[in-house]
Amino acid sequence: MADSQRKLIVPKDVTDALRTVKYPGSEEDVVKLEMPQEIRIAGQRISFSLVFQKSNDPNIETLVVACEEAIKKYVGAEVEIEDNIAVKFIHDMERPVLPNVKNIIAVASGKGGVGKSTVAVNLAVALANSGAKVGLLDADIFGPSIPKMFGAEGDRPAGIKIDDREMINPLEKYGVKFLSVGFFVDTDSAIIWRGPMASNALKQLISEGNWGELDYLLIDLPPGTSDIHLTLVQSVPVTGAVIVTTPQDVALADVVRGASMFQSKSIDVPVLGLIENMAWFTPAELPENKYYIFGKNGGKNLADKLGLPLLGQIPIVQSIREGGDNGNPIANESESVTGVSFAEVAAAVKHRVHIRNIQMAPTKKVKISRK
Ligand SMILES: Nc1ncnc2c1ncn2[C@@H]1O[C@H](COP(=O)(O)OP(=O)(O)O)[C@@H](O)[C@H]1O
Ligand SMILES: [Mg+2]
Repeated sequence: MADSQRKLIVPKDVTDALRTVKYPGSEEDVVKLEMPQEIRIAGQRISFSLVFQKSNDPNIETLVVACEEAIKKYVGAEVEIEDNIAVKFIHDMERPVLPNVKNIIAVASGKGGVGKSTVAVNLAVALANSGAKVGLLDADIFGPSIPKMFGAEGDRPAGIKIDDREMINPLEKYGVKFLSVGFFVDTDSAIIWRGPMASNALKQLISEGNWGELDYLLIDLPPGTSDIHLTLVQSVPVTGAVIVTTPQDVALADVVRGASMFQSKSIDVPVLGLIENMAWFTPAELPENKYYIFGKNGGKNLADKLGLPLLGQIPIVQSIREGGDNGNPIANESESVTGVSFAEVAAAVKHRVHIRNIQMAPTKKVKISRK
């Protein structure tokens, strides 16, 4: 077959092939036993780790060869696999963070005030309304606003002991589990003091939060780029980022910076798409009337320019702000114009995450390099 016609290899091709490899003397195959991990695909080059329970396992050689043969037979004779299987042992592997959370989605924006938290809250509620298990972590040290938007300002999460570990039970409202750095950090203190405290709080909320099983954990990040962004990508494998923008030009220039940070080689978190907030003004009683007060289609044009999907457009509607102020996310009013907009954004996000997970290997945590 000519080079240009080669079929794209996806992680599923690799696991499908490896399912034919049985562990000697057992009915279980190596995939069932969760032995292949860290699968990487670059063109025709496939590599992965094969993780054994014990370092004196007598089947190491046999299984490595069997895996190579299965890949050649079922994925293609031309793939590069020899010497690309790294034998590892369970005690060498880091304990996975949030093993029961399927997708971690960063909600970011180029600058503040574009409605990032409003979108994060309503997206979380809309995803939950669609039947998904959803968590929301407020990591915006500049202005943690999720507790207020959920009407839970006075509430405090409770501690719980699980298997000798002190954990934090997230609060729960509208089917969404949530925690906020605002509960743990003195947000009145100067940012220079708040910064390191907040990084630690974020790590703690991720690793000690009793999140349970989640389909999506959304992280409301501070605006722009910050140490908190770095802490996040070093603490967990972020599935993808969504970027909230308004149609104004200033916001758009900041968006490019925000998107490039995630896409930079060292961070390598896929940007799932843009959400254009405040795309037009609509009086609730005249939803057909659209006034483009910040310019028309700024978000759409930028998405096209950056080659990113536009996941949705949200109008400015008075009830969105009121819902935020009263702790009643508008996404719960599924028949309203805005309720429908957020349901559409939620569907688009689900779709992009699905495509991303088929096409790409899981994100790796960013390793801190010590030079
Ligand atoms: N689509 C919208 N329609 C009306 N008001 C909105 C909309 N999006 C955000 N707001 C309001 O704008 C303000 C800033 O939004 P917020 O979500 O706190 O922004 P950010 O998190 O980006 O700083 C809030 O008062 C919020 O209620
Ligand atoms: Mg905010």
